Amino acid sequence: VEPGRLTIRGTTGLAGVIGWPVAHSRSPLLHNFWLARYGIDGAYVPLPVRPGAFDVAVHGLRAAGFRGANVTIPHKEAAFAIADRLHRSAVRSGSVNTLVFAQDGTIEAHSTDGDGFVGSLEAKGVDVTRGPVLLLGAGGAARAVAASLLDRGVAVSVANRTTARAVALAEALSAEGPAPISVIDWAGWTDHLPGHALLVNTTSLGMHGGPGDVFAPDLTRAPDDMVVSDIVYVPRMTPLLTAAAARGLRIVDGTGMLLHQARLGFKCWFGVDPEVDADIQALFDADL
Ligand code: ATR
Repeated sequence: VEPGRLTIRGTTGLAGVIGWPVAHSRSPLLHNFWLARYGIDGAYVPLPVRPGAFDVAVHGLRAAGFRGANVTIPHKEAAFAIADRLHRSAVRSGSVNTLVFAQDGTIEAHSTDGDGFVGSLEAKGVDVTRGPVLLLGAGGAARAVAASLLDRGVAVSVANRTTARAVALAEALSAEGPAPISVIDWAGWTDHLPGHALLVNTTSLGMHGGPGDVFAPDLTRAPDDMVVSDIVYVPRMTPLLTAAAARGLRIVDGTGMLLHQARLGFKCWFGVDPEVDADIQALFDADL
């Protein structure tokens, strides 16, 4: 593949992102960058698929020889249901964002969010196994992150505004797995900062256009060597990360998770583990 030139041949391997709407997706930008970077004969396209047309679209893509696809809103539940095989990541997280069409025509479903999150920390030199994690939130993203941490033997404490959701998350994940998950109160969660090595926000607090609540937690009690991470990435410097930086703590922003979850899908379809380097980070940032 010549740099700067689109070359699609009879042999070109295809993948894409299925969503509705899908025009805002940055996935085509990222995957096509890597395809060009590694000289891989492939292309990654947006696949706008209306609600209700998901199954016919997936079976069509599979029949047409696609390698697989990312799946985004509103099709995540349908993606779970259509799979012939659920990868452990999909079972544990209870969600699916990546489909892989196998040679034998079957569909395997993965969730790359949790491992993408852990990958983004490891890429910054953070050893997630260093100590327990304090996790804020109990939605789909929280479950994916918690599953990947627990599966690495890391203990997790969950705090969520709606305690029942935190309890449900802990129940879903505690049946199996080498590390414990416990629930702590949302009110006063900062009292639990001591004893935790990593703080992760998976709530929409601090998100641009998100809930209006001011989110400026008091991190006074955080251990000096705590790492603070936010999966919200618009803005890149969230109120939580700003507070953590002011407190002198190490921070990891949410852009890395996006890049690393994409990395894992790319590897499944195109057989190359692409590097998340400064070039792709800059490409991503320029599009934010
Ligand atoms: P996702 O699947 O992306 O994780 P979600 O399921 O909508 O999204 O979860 C959003 C998370 O942000 C939840 O943990 C939610 O808390 P509740 O379970 O109590 O709803 C949290 N959240 C959203 N708005 C919030 C707010 N104003 N204060 C505290 N938590 C909030």
